[in-house]
Formats: sequence, C-alpha cells, structure tokens
Amino acid sequence: MTKRKHPEDLRSFRWFGAKDLRSFGHRSRLYQMGYDQQEIAAKPVIAIINTWSDINPCHAHLRARAEEVRRGVWQAGGFPVELPAMSLAETYVKPTTMLYRNFLAMEVEELIRSHPVDGVVLLAGCDKTTPATIMGAIQVDLPTIFVPAGPMLRGNYRGQHLGSGSDVWKYWAEKEAGQITEPQWNEMERGIARSYGTCMTMGTASTMTALADTLGLCLPGASAIPASDAGHSRMAALSGARIVEMVFEDLKPSDILTAKAFENALAVHMAMAGSTNAMIHLIAMARRCGVQLTLEDFDRMSAKVPVLCNIRPTGAFLMEDFYYAGGLLALWKRLEPLLNLRERNVISTLGAAIEHAEVHLPDVIRPLDNPVAGRGGTAILKGNLAPDGCVMKPAAANPELLKHRGPALVFDDYDAMMRAVNDEDLDVTAETVMILRNAGPVGGPGMPEWGMLPIPKKLLKQGVRDMVRISDARMSGTSYGACILHVAPESFVGGPLAAVRNGDMIALDVAERTITLEVEAAEIDRRLSEWQPPERDYSRGYLKMHAENIQQAPEGCDFTFLQSPHKLPEPEIH
Ligand code: FES
Ligand code: MG
Repeated sequence: MTKRKHPEDLRSFRWFGAKDLRSFGHRSRLYQMGYDQQEIAAKPVIAIINTWSDINPCHAHLRARAEEVRRGVWQAGGFPVELPAMSLAETYVKPTTMLYRNFLAMEVEELIRSHPVDGVVLLAGCDKTTPATIMGAIQVDLPTIFVPAGPMLRGNYRGQHLGSGSDVWKYWAEKEAGQITEPQWNEMERGIARSYGTCMTMGTASTMTALADTLGLCLPGASAIPASDAGHSRMAALSGARIVEMVFEDLKPSDILTAKAFENALAVHMAMAGSTNAMIHLIAMARRCGVQLTLEDFDRMSAKVPVLCNIRPTGAFLMEDFYYAGGLLALWKRLEPLLNLRERNVISTLGAAIEHAEVHLPDVIRPLDNPVAGRGGTAILKGNLAPDGCVMKPAAANPELLKHRGPALVFDDYDAMMRAVNDEDLDVTAETVMILRNAGPVGGPGMPEWGMLPIPKKLLKQGVRDMVRISDARMSGTSYGACILHVAPESFVGGPLAAVRNGDMIALDVAERTITLEVEAAEIDRRLSEWQPPERDYSRGYLKMHAENIQQAPEGCDFTFLQSPHKLPEPEIH
C-alpha cells in the first residue's frame, strides 16, 4: 500500500507489454478474440474465477454475477477475464465435496499463477467453494475480492418458513414417526428451495461466507445479501470496480489475513453458532497464511463469546431475517467490544465498516447481555476416545445430553447403519451411544457429512428426538443434535475409536470437555493391535494422492504438501 502501481509494474505487463516474439503472440491472440489495442493497453487484467455450473443450484446466478463483476471492472478501467473452476455442488458431488476442497484450492492457485492476471475476483459460496477458492488465492497473493453467492430465499410450506437442511432432518423424523403424510412431504420438497443461492440456515455456506467477510475479503457485509436481492447484483458490480483499484494499491490477501483477522473470524463463528465444518476450514486457511490456529483457539473463544444469532439450526430464524436485521454489519456492531476493529478489509477497516451499523430486529441478532446461549457455539472435547480432539455444537443439542453415560452401539459402515436403524427390533435405548467409524478424512474418504447419525425408527416412535452420536465424520452445518464429530485420529488410521465394541460404556461431559471410553488402557491397546481397517481402493489417481497426503481434522484436512505460506516463483514467460 506504499506506492501506487504503474501500468508497467503490472504482472500482466510481462505478457502483453514487452516488445518480443512471445508478446507478439499474446497480443495478437487478444486481437483474435475481437479486442482492440485501446481496450487492453495498460489495464489491470482481472480474473473472475467462477464456480458456476449447470448442476450447482447454489451458484445458478453466478453467470449473471460474473457479467456484473465484468461491468464493474470495465467501468473502473480494468480488463476482465472469466476463468471457470470446479463447481463443487454440495448436494450432488459424492461421496462428499470435502474430498475435492483441496483439489479446487490447487486449481484456483494454478489458474491464477499460470495466467496473465493482476487481480482476482472469486465467485463462490456453496460450502467448500469458499475455503477452497480463498486457500488457492492466498497462495498466489494477488489482490483478491471474494464475491459470496448469497443465501437463497426462505423456504415456504403452507405459510411457514422452512430452513435448508435443518427442517429436512426435523420433518423427516416426524415422517418416520408417522406424523407427516406423503403428500405433505411432497409439498415441502417443492417449497424448501425456491430461489438460487446457498442454504439459508446457518450452515457451512452462511458460516464460511460470513467468515470470509469478517476476515476482510468482501465488500463489508456482502455475505448477508440474499442471492436474489437486487443489492446482490450491485455488490457484484462494485466488487468488480473495487478490485481494479486494489491492483493499483497492491492490497493483497497477505495485508488483510493477519492473526488478528483470524481472531475476529473465531469470535464471529462463535456468535453465529457457525457450522462445525468451519473449524476445519478456518484452520486450513489460517495455516496457509502462516497463522497456527488450533482447536484450542476455538474453545478459548467459545468461553468469551456468546451465541447472538438466533438462526436455525441453533435458533429460530433464517438468513433472510438476518439480512433484514442489519446483516453481518449489525452482528459486528453487537460484537464491537470483542473485535479487533483496526483490521483491514478490501476497502478500509472493520471499525469504519460498522460506524453506521444498527440492529433492526433485536430478536434475530441478540445483544451481548441477552444471548441465545451464554457460551459460544462449539466445544472441543478430548479424552482416551479422541486424544487429538473432537468437536460438537452444544447449543444445537438437547441440554440433558451434555453430560451422559451410555453403552456403545457401533457401526463400521454407513449402509449397515442405515439398514439397522429401520429394524424395529434393534437393541437400542435412548441412553445408547451410537457410533459410526471409518468415515474420517482417509477412511471416508473425505469425511462425508454422515455425523448426524439417524435416530433409530423404534426410538422415533417412542418420541426420542436426540441422542448421543459419535463419529470421525463431519456433519452438515444445517444439522443439529448431540453429535460428536471429527474424532481424531480417525478409526481408519488406527485411532482409539477403532477399539470400541458394542456395550462398552462411554462417558461424555461437555462442561468438563471430556469424552471417555471406559475400558482399560491395556485392553484398548490389545484391541487396536488386532484392528484391521476395511478394504478401500485408493490405488490410483486423485484418490491415491488424497489418501497419501490428507491431514487429520485438527490440522485442517489440507494436503501436507500444500499447507505452507510459501509462495512459488512467477512462471517463466518464454
Ligand atoms: Fe450449496 Fe447448501 S447445498 S450451500
Ligand atoms: Mg452444507
């Protein structure tokens, strides 16, 4: 930010500005695309990295938004180029988009590095696409703005608001218990997702885009604008205009993504009762910046910051209400005493962004002295069952289960579990601790969102709606319940979860932050020495690379060879 860049200082000048054989080729090929000299000369080239695809409903509008970003870039005197990237539609990509988060991060990094670009606009929002695109952009460290896809409209069912994910789980349990008819269910299916945009509960998408915004990578407050609001288009165009200036100012992610900015993100995560997935992503993003975030940092922040956002699955409202309540700017205002206000964003500072912010709906964004829950949204537990930690969302669980002791019922694979839960003779009670293993980063592969294990039909009919469930999987940010997730090390690599047998007693104490398998240490060791992981075919291609390099959840599930702030040299241009 010291000296303003001149056109000949631009990175793209190396491609287009020289007077040699190669630059002849680079310029003549722009002419081939129908551009003339004055349209391109001395202009910052802005990459619009677009995760649009025909099968990503959350990103269906990103083609239109790319045009609006382009409009802003042209108006500000830049030269926009749209570069498509992998779309990672949460709903359709199997076994889980998480398997490909690092793949997209690598793609974005290499797209930027290899092309003649000076600044970057990232168009993303559906769960993994936010951390992935940002992780890639961090690594090249060119001026970058993140344009969040924005939440979809509230779902509607007979005049009631439906929330993505959260209400599906809720009403499915009612349907399984015989409380909802097939025609009613079909009506919900048509009403729950009625516009483009990301899930409108406080799932992973809303959490991650709010964290990107809090870190300073968006036009401040952009993440709360509903995808189909006209303000969303204006935000896209303004982002396009702003990135051109950022190139001249040389304002880079490394100027914005400081340790204190990550502290702010942690505080906002707690106040939102954000998705448990964000813990993995935020650690991965921070470590790419050289900030050594750990699970303990989340727990420390959780003790300081209460839950203020009254949004499902923890609270009552939806993201559209959050926007009407003043959005992220209003939440920052509430958190003012707890935030580092001098942290930079793409325009100025966090403090400047909230100067005029107000809360309009005080039940949606609660004040610090009347929170939704007194402590932050996530807890880290440790013990002989999870020596490296595991996570849960106490505010989204039945409070009676936060201290619990019960016998284990173990499943080694998802399909067997799904068959068993429909068996009305299953040996299970409300005290049982259900366990799913082999669903971690290596064993899943990719830690599928299987962690909200289904409550057995027999118990649903008895009126049970929550029970203690443990896995090395993740769960959707829209899920809820006493689900203990991300157990590390995972069972597939020989973590103690692999030693549990049916009937073993398991004790959970969230206040004490402990999780205990009540079996002698020598017996656990003996069982583990006999343990054989189930068969998986990771013999070739990306799956092989993934299995050989993926880290455990407390490290952020990055690839070992990617998790470094080291920046590679610029490509040779010959
Ligand atoms: Fe895309 Fe939820 S499925 S954000
Ligand atoms: Mg999700």
